[in-house]
Amino acid sequence: MKSESICVNLWINFFMTEKSIWEKSTSHGEILKKIWKHLDLGVIDRDHPFHQVVFATVAGNKPAIRTVILRRFWRKNPRRLAFHAHLGSPKIAEIKSNPNVSWLFYHPAENFQVRIEGIATIHSSDELADEQWNATGLFSRRCYVGEAPSQASEKPTCGLPENLIDRKPTKEESEAGRKNFVVISSTIDSIDCMELDVKGHRRSLFVWNEKGELETKWLTP
Ligand SMILES: Cc1cc2nc3c(=O)[nH]c(=O)nc-3n(C[C@H](O)[C@H](O)[C@H](O)COP(=O)(O)O)c2cc1C
Repeated sequence: MKSESICVNLWINFFMTEKSIWEKSTSHGEILKKIWKHLDLGVIDRDHPFHQVVFATVAGNKPAIRTVILRRFWRKNPRRLAFHAHLGSPKIAEIKSNPNVSWLFYHPAENFQVRIEGIATIHSSDELADEQWNATGLFSRRCYVGEAPSQASEKPTCGLPENLIDRKPTKEESEAGRKNFVVISSTIDSIDCMELDVKGHRRSLFVWNEKGELETKWLTP
């Protein structure tokens, strides 16, 4: 989108809602509460903009990004986010060689962006992986019965077994996918939040240090 149309959208939004983030005083605590609320909603509401998130890994010396579905969020002990993936997908090897990851969320109606950095873990056979597999529906399980993403093919392919293209697997058939199913979780070590506003944007930084203490800063947007 061109920068003029972003400005026009912000003006329209401002006049329609007639509220500005600068109208009342705020704190890092208030902003963090808002972020936590939207991460909670992103997990449970498939129409919430935080349900689909951009997840970045490091592939050699290049960034690698892709959209994933937010499946879990923990506010503490430790703060974490998680999504599901196929064990054979390239992001697994990328995380094994460099577990530094980041997440990008954007809420277009509430006008704010959240960038999160953390360290990823791959869960293939622990309690979390079992819990998430048990909560995964048969249609979704079908992806794990099929081929891993990012494999080259001579012709266009959906990667699913022929006999499952037009239907969901039975529970028994779906169990073949369990060995390919992993949960990727990451700690939440820092959050950079940018709130857009026609009177001027606002950017806040939250960093949990090695002792687990939260350090906060304001940044120029
Ligand atoms: C809306 C949407 C949701 C997606 N959700 C996931 C997901 O939850 N997990 C996943 O591994 N890939 C998901 N994908 C596919 C990835 O974006 C990506 O194409 C695939 O995982 C291969 O990534 P990799 O080669 O970087 O490992 C999704 C794609 C879209 C467009």
